[in-house]
Parts: sequence; structure tokens; C-alpha cells
Amino acid sequence: MPSTDRKQNAAVTTAVPNDLAAFWMPFTPNRAFKRAPRLIAHAKDMHYFTPDGRAVLDGAAGLWCTNAGHNRDPIVAAIKRQAEDLDYAPAFQFAHPKSFELASRIAALAPGDLDRVFFCNSGSEAVDTALKIALAYHHVRGQGSRTRLIGRERGYHGVGFGGISVGGIVANRKHFGTLLAGVDHLPATYSREHQAFTKGEPEWGAHLADDLERIVALHDASTIAAVIVEPMAGSTGVLPPPKGYLQRLRAICDRHGILLIFDEVITGFGRLGATFAAERYGVLPDMITFAKGITSGAVPMGGVIARDGIYDAFMRGPEHVVELFHGYTYSAHPLACAAGLATLDLYRDEGLFERAKKLEPKWADAAMALKGTPGVLDIRTVGLTAGIDLASRPDAFGKRAYEAMERGFHDEGVMIRITGETLALSPPLIVSEAQIGEIFDKVGRLIKAVM
Ligand SMILES: Cc1ncc(COP(=O)(O)O)c(C=O)c1O
Repeated sequence: MPSTDRKQNAAVTTAVPNDLAAFWMPFTPNRAFKRAPRLIAHAKDMHYFTPDGRAVLDGAAGLWCTNAGHNRDPIVAAIKRQAEDLDYAPAFQFAHPKSFELASRIAALAPGDLDRVFFCNSGSEAVDTALKIALAYHHVRGQGSRTRLIGRERGYHGVGFGGISVGGIVANRKHFGTLLAGVDHLPATYSREHQAFTKGEPEWGAHLADDLERIVALHDASTIAAVIVEPMAGSTGVLPPPKGYLQRLRAICDRHGILLIFDEVITGFGRLGATFAAERYGVLPDMITFAKGITSGAVPMGGVIARDGIYDAFMRGPEHVVELFHGYTYSAHPLACAAGLATLDLYRDEGLFERAKKLEPKWADAAMALKGTPGVLDIRTVGLTAGIDLASRPDAFGKRAYEAMERGFHDEGVMIRITGETLALSPPLIVSEAQIGEIFDKVGRLIKAVM
């Protein structure tokens, strides 16, 4: 129905039509979705349920975020209690106790002297916050010429202008003008030729970090503020870092006074079998961005964890003057803090990060069992993640994966994520061994169905 007719109709009936037209869906082919919607009405633990009650096994933790599983009782109860106690407190100049409690808990979980936590509401905001802190940090230390930011090809850092500038996904960049000036990119770490069908970190590729030396030689270190990378690139199809790569990046950054930011929006909170990927790889970045798993997806929240030295650099000047001119109305929102605290309790009490570590070999074996399936070009695994590359149909890049996702929801009862022609899997960390088998059985049937 044309929108004028729809609105007139609504005016007559006084009821607003609840059709699919008004919602402009994010990162979704709207027309295809609205022709055959995939609607979710409920969730519990490892499952979603459609409005007609059909169970769909969650092979993607929603969007890499429901690490504790869905609608967990302690998290739900904490959110309810908080909504009754305190709906909102200003985030500027005032605060509520749970914001400090959650920051302390996160700082205690983070490695080394990553002790200062700045809250925001999403991964995109976390990235833009970290980039701004990096620029301001150099500025307050009298090195204001350090303005360049270095990202990486195939990196995903959300959708803010900072994030898409340092990000390396063409489709996310090409329609949005000139982006931030003064950004350069490292090469992606993936090479099918050298890495195909690797479990965990590939042997080949550490040398790609040395490209940072080329960028430093080109621009001079005195112009470079920070390097930002995902320790494991999730959104472009699960690309684990080559062995030694992150260590090499760290060493080069140290040599040149460049800050190293790990975007752990996906890898944070247990996805790779450790609280943070920084811990798994034994590399201490200067800042970590997080979101998603901090509340197990139950309330939007993101943040940046900075090393003490970064925070301390700002704590100068008159005490009544704001040190960092940055923040969000909903930074450390009470509902998010309550959900975050309950989520961290659950992770600890159920040992979910250790569980992810223990399950990793079984997960990897189950994924690799699909090697040899016609049309499977590569499989990568690390922690509880897997990326499966499919061969494309001629002139229809991405169509096979899209169909697999559709059929997964409608026919097999499994939710998977797709990016290009890659199927990406990342179940909640409560997944059972039987459910791991079920996920890959279903995925195997899906791949055969779309070939
Ligand atoms: C590494 C990384 N950074 C940032 C983001 C953006 O997070 P959000 O969608 O919460 O803004 C994502 C989202 O998937 C991500 O994977």
C-alpha cells in the first residue's frame, strides 16, 4: 500500500498498521527480507523461537553478543530490579554506584594496567571513543602532530565515521564521502593460498605486521597516533591472527610511540576462551574496546579500557575543568550496568570462558569435518568461532550464503551469520557438545542444499 493510503487508513481506523513498511532495517536487504521475513518472538538459552513457536538453534549468539545464552534468569532479574530502583542518572557530573562497580570489575578482568574504563553504548561508539582518546592523549602530552590513524584492510570497527575510516570493508566506506583524513591501512592477514583449513592461528603471515614500518617510513612516526586492529577479524569472516603477528605489531608500535588499540567488541568476554584476546595472545594493547558480551546482548553497552598512563596524562590542570570533552547521555546507563554486573557474575559462576577454551578442540574438529564438502573453499576456526567460505555462483557473489542463511532459519531451524560468501558461526558459550554436532550437521545440509 502506498504510504499516503496507509496513513489515511490509519487516521480513519485510529490504529497504526503494523506492517513491515516503516522499519528501515539495518545491514539487511530490506526488500528480500520483507518478502519472506525471519521474525523472532522469544528466546531462551541456546534457542530463538518464531512467533508460531518454532525453535531455532542460535549458531551466532545473536550478533556475536549473547555469550551467556538468551534470557538468563539472573540477568533478567537484575534488569527488572534496576528498572524499579533507578531508571536513569545523568552520566555527566553525576553518577550512580553501579557504574563504578562495573568499571572496577572490568578493570580487574583486563590484563596488565588496563585499569580505566570509559562507557558508551555500542561497539561503534567504543571505537570512535578510543580513536578520540588516542588523538587527545598525544595532544595533551604536547605531541599534537600525531593525528594519523592506522587501520587494516578487512577490518570492521562499526559504523561511525571514525570506525568506517579505519575499517577496511569497501561497501561500508564507498558511499560515505571522504571519511576521516589521514588514515592508512595495513594489509589484511588472510591468504587462502597459505592458510586454508587452519585450526586456530595460522603459521603464515606474521611478517604482514612489518608493513607498519613501511607506513611509518612513509608518514613519519611523529604523525601517527594509533593503530587499531581486531585481534581476530570477525565480521569479515573469522580471520584469526597469524602466529606472532600481534606481538610484532606491538613491538613496532613501541618502537615508534604509537598507541595500539585492540578492538575486542567480538573477542572480548570469552569468545576466544579467555576474557580478552589480549590475554590469549599475551599482548598488552594500550586500549581495548568492548561491547556485545559485556551484557550478553541484553542491554546496549560498550566501552574502552585504557592503560593507567593514558588516563593519568589527562589528569592535569585545574580540578574543576573537564579533562576529556567526550561522553554520551547514556554512558554507564543504570540498566546496562546492572545487566553487565549480572552477566559478569554468570560468566564467573558458570566458568563460561574456561568452557569456551575446553570446547575449542571439539568445535574445531566438528567444523573441519565439513572439509571436502563440495563448494567449501576454506574453513577457519578459533575459540568458539568458525568461518566457512563457499564457492560463488557465477555473477552472484553472496547469493549462496544468503540462501543458506534463509534456509537455515526456515528449514533447518538454525541461525547463522553471513558475510559475503562466508558462513560465520559463534554460538553462545553455553553450547553443549551435542548442540555443536547439531549446528554443524545442519550447516552441512545447508551447504549441500545451496550447491
Ligand atoms: C570488532 C567490532 N567493532 C565494532 C563493532 C560495532 O559494534 P556495534 O554494532 O555495537 O556498533 C563490531 C560489530 O560487530 C565489531 O565486530
